[in-house]
Amino acid sequence: MTKVRTGWTLAIHGGAGSMTPETLAADEAERALAGLRAALDAGGAMLEAGGAALDAVAIAVRVLEDDPAFNAGRGSVFTWDGHIECDAAIMDGRDRRAGAVAGVTATRHPIDAARAVMERSPHVLLSAAGADAFSAEQGLEQAPPDWFATPARRRQLDEIKARPDLPFDSGMKYGTVGAVAMDATGHVAAATSTGGLTAKRWGRIGDSALIGAGTYADDRAGAVSCTGSGEHFIRLAVAHELTARRRLVGETLGQAADALIAELSALGGKGGFIAVSPQGDALWRFNTPGMFRGLARDGGEATVAVFGEPVGTA
Ligand code: GLY
Repeated sequence: MTKVRTGWTLAIHGGAGSMTPETLAADEAERALAGLRAALDAGGAMLEAGGAALDAVAIAVRVLEDDPAFNAGRGSVFTWDGHIECDAAIMDGRDRRAGAVAGVTATRHPIDAARAVMERSPHVLLSAAGADAFSAEQGLEQAPPDWFATPARRRQLDEIKARPDLPFDSGMKYGTVGAVAMDATGHVAAATSTGGLTAKRWGRIGDSALIGAGTYADDRAGAVSCTGSGEHFIRLAVAHELTARRRLVGETLGQAADALIAELSALGGKGGFIAVSPQGDALWRFNTPGMFRGLARDGGEATVAVFGEPVGTA
């Protein structure tokens, strides 16, 4: 029997990656976990006040975009050419409206640009200079390159450029951010934002901006936000397939999640995802040593974690 939940659920991630308890500095971990708590507080307050899942995921991602601990907005990784190009997407499970931007360089909150594409344009995905122009025309806050840049990300670029023998996704530093939510009316939404891969070239776009790959929401099945080696998530259309399996094959979200993480691993992909069902169940999966993540619910204590159980349902 389908579980009936009232109330709300908010799950977020701050990226999956190769960090281990031995390699992740305690202060770095604490900064990221504090950032996750702040995002849960902002999104949770919105949901507690009766706000929509769409507003909650947008504000949670906005908070994480401003936090230099994460690879999204401020603190994004550098391209091979030394620029910062952000991707973001948002989707509303009520009517499957969606908006996304890829390769934006000047919008302080790429997730706001994605939402503006959804709400104020006839399109779903805008890219590069055109997306930046649209964002400015819409009056969204613009920021100079220095706003996004951090010395730590610059060092990561220098390290990768010194090792051209490494596989392309060695530039996958944890830090893509995402949020999924179910609100008190049972609607779901998803949002994802990232700087992509360190040293990415040639206008490379990852899964985060692609509806169905890194981001998807459908009131009939659930909402999903992914993090990891984007090329694999694109090939598997992870976010859409997760919801489609539930809707078309009748799998539980957990069964679909197990299948998708197994397929990701079989293809050599690395990363993970978070999901919520329209009944308010939340889950996460990752095949990396860690994934920054957090969960908040009406009437419950918010929790954050980076290591521990890679398979979770709550
Ligand atoms: N998952 C983020 C990216 O590949 O760009």
